[in-house]
Amino acid sequence: DVPLRDLAAAKGKVMGTAVTGSKLTGTYGDLAGAQFNSLTPGNAMKWGSVEPTRGSYNWAEADQIVNFAEAHGQQVRGHTLVWHSQNPSWLTNGTWTAAQLGQLMNDHIALEVGRYKGRLAAWDVVNEPFNEDGTYRQTLWYNGLGTGYIAQALTAARAADPAARLYINDYNVEGVNAKSTALYNLVKSLKEQGVPIDGVGLQAHLIVGQVPSTLQQNIQRFADLGVDVAITELDIRMTLPSDSTKLAQQAADYKAVMNACVAVARCAGVTVWGFTDSDSWIPSTFPGQGAATPYDENYAPKPAYYAIAEAL
Ligand code: XIL
Repeated sequence: DVPLRDLAAAKGKVMGTAVTGSKLTGTYGDLAGAQFNSLTPGNAMKWGSVEPTRGSYNWAEADQIVNFAEAHGQQVRGHTLVWHSQNPSWLTNGTWTAAQLGQLMNDHIALEVGRYKGRLAAWDVVNEPFNEDGTYRQTLWYNGLGTGYIAQALTAARAADPAARLYINDYNVEGVNAKSTALYNLVKSLKEQGVPIDGVGLQAHLIVGQVPSTLQQNIQRFADLGVDVAITELDIRMTLPSDSTKLAQQAADYKAVMNACVAVARCAGVTVWGFTDSDSWIPSTFPGQGAATPYDENYAPKPAYYAIAEAL
C-alpha cells in the first residue's frame, strides 16, 4: 500500500498524527515515520510539561519529537501555547496582576516559540477559547487580560517565529453552530485589525455516525476569510466493544472528514489524535468509549485506515 503521507503529499495536503515521544521506537516509530508527514506532540509542548517548576524547563520530549520529525522529513505542529488546561500549578495557583499575567504569557511564548524558530510549520497559539454557546471561556487568561489576550498571544508568537503559521484551535467547531460562528467572528475581527492569524484548527473529536453535515461548508467559510483550516485532532470514538458495523460506519466517517478537507484548497490537512488505539486519550477520558483511531491496539490497520487512503 502507498503510505498515507505520500497520498496526502500528492494532493498538497498534510496527513499528521499526534505522538508520544517515549513511544517513537519499534512498530510505533516505524508507522509514525512511514505513514505521516506531520507530527503534533500530544502533550510534550504544553506549559505544564515544559515548565513544571517556574524557571526550570524540560524540553526533552519536545526536542525528541522535533528531531524525529526532521529525521523523517515531517512537519511539526506546535501544541499549544495559551490554554486553560495542563498548565503548571505554580501558574494556576499564583495570584497575578494583569501586567504580570501578560508578561508571563509573552515570556512563555517568546521562549517556547523562539526555541523552535524556523523548525515548526505551525503553532496552536490559543487553544479552546470558547464556550459551547459562543461566549468566551472564563480562563486564567480571559479573566486576567480580557479578550485582548488572544491578539497579544498571536502578536508575540509572530515576533518569535515569523515563519510559523499561527492558529486558533478549538473543539465542537467542525460544523456551523454558535461556537464556530463565534470563532468565525473572532477571526474576521482579528484580520480586520491586522492581528497575525493564519489558520483555524478544528479539533474534530467526533463520535461514530455524527460527522456534522456542514463540515465542508464550515471549512469553506473560514477559507473565504483568508485563513487556512486544519483538522488538528481527529478521532472518531464509539461505545466499546467495537464490531464490524461500528468499524464500517467509522470508516465512512473518516472518509467524510477527509473528503471535506480535500475539497477545500485552503484546508491544509488532517491530523489524527493518535494513530493507534493503544495511544488514544479516549478510553481514559470517555469511559466505555474508544477504538477511535485508524489502527487497532496491535497496529493492524482498521477499515478507517483504508478509508483515509481512498479519500486521499
Ligand atoms: C489530551 C492528551 O491527548 C491526553 O494525553 C492528556 O491527558 C489530555 O490532553 N484537546 C486538546 C488536546 O487540545 O491537547 C487534548 O490532548 C485533547 C483535547
